[in-house]
Amino acid sequence: MFHIGPHRIDPPFLLAPMAGVSEMPFRVMAFEFGAGLATTELISAKGLFHRNKRTEQYLAFNSEVERPYSLQLFGGDEAAMAQAAVLAVEAGAQIIDINMGCPVKKVTQTGAGSALLCDPKRAAALIVAMRKSVQDSVPITAKIRTGWDEHHINCVEMGKALQDAGCAALAMHARSRAQGYSGKANWDLIGELKSALQIPVIGNGDVVSAEDAYLMQQQTGCDGVMIGRGALGNPWIFRELKTGKKYTPSLTERKDLVLRHLREHIRFHTNLDEARSDVQQRAVRSFRTHLVWYSRGLKDASFFRERVMHLDTLASVEQALHDFFETTHVDIRKSLPETESDEIDYRQAFG
Ligand SMILES: Cc1cc2nc3c(=O)[nH]c(=O)nc-3n(C[C@H](O)[C@H](O)[C@H](O)COP(=O)(O)O)c2cc1C
Repeated sequence: MFHIGPHRIDPPFLLAPMAGVSEMPFRVMAFEFGAGLATTELISAKGLFHRNKRTEQYLAFNSEVERPYSLQLFGGDEAAMAQAAVLAVEAGAQIIDINMGCPVKKVTQTGAGSALLCDPKRAAALIVAMRKSVQDSVPITAKIRTGWDEHHINCVEMGKALQDAGCAALAMHARSRAQGYSGKANWDLIGELKSALQIPVIGNGDVVSAEDAYLMQQQTGCDGVMIGRGALGNPWIFRELKTGKKYTPSLTERKDLVLRHLREHIRFHTNLDEARSDVQQRAVRSFRTHLVWYSRGLKDASFFRERVMHLDTLASVEQALHDFFETTHVDIRKSLPETESDEIDYRQAFG
């Protein structure tokens, strides 16, 4: 357990912001399964001024379940970020996170995302300006990487500058901008950051199982662990983390969850334009990546994936899911390594 401003984050396991994934339906599921926090995907500060349908969708949240509601902004301009912070609070944000790690050129070219790693003073000035504009009514957090590239690893310098500016908590994806999403995350740097700062430090990178999360906590001393790709197709990871017990969902449970996620995803993407079938089809197509993730480790998943790649109506995907779950089973060879007992208590094992 740790705090971000007045908010208690308990358990200290967080769903990572992921563009195209951390939308309201998936965040709600993560919270329900036991995540302590689930932040939105990155939202453009400038986009908030021109509230189009897409922005409205990004801002949508479930106030019953998503408590606290953490919204991630990106931008490099102080005035724009300060104004966006006010709009974010008006939209209901209870925590505002600043993206300082996105490696995408379109983002870094504007001085936002990981470009901020090159200028800790400018990054700190964003925090100061945003705190001022919202009069400290909500905590401001940041998510960084270890540095721009292997020759410019400056996370500790960056962390100190942000802390001095009043950053309430700091998450770090333990890779440099240049590493993108490949190579190994450097957990030692999470440990160094934690030792250097007084504010809560949230470690992130290469946590694909509950064991990994406990190991990261133990090795680095970090206050919280953020999970991205390890939660794709596996929101149950938050249940394991909350209870400290291994959990393998039954096939029926998996099927029911995929069906629920599918329907909520479609409702989420179409409620503004219900009548148009092309909007529905686009929503169904955008769920295909989730279907790939949910079928990971199951027998005959490749046939299922091949089939759903050609489907774009809710009814046809539902039918494909029923057919698939009728015959599939967990493919031991392809599933993630499992312990012998379902009742292993990770917290005991890893302290
Ligand atoms: C599909 C995808 C989208 C992402 N979008 C964002 C984003 O919007 N904001 C952000 O701060 N990080 C984003 N990330 C980075 C993740 O939050 C996380 O830092 C990274 O995936 C490493 O954690 P992991 O090894 O647990 O996946 C994204 C990652 C993925 C895979």
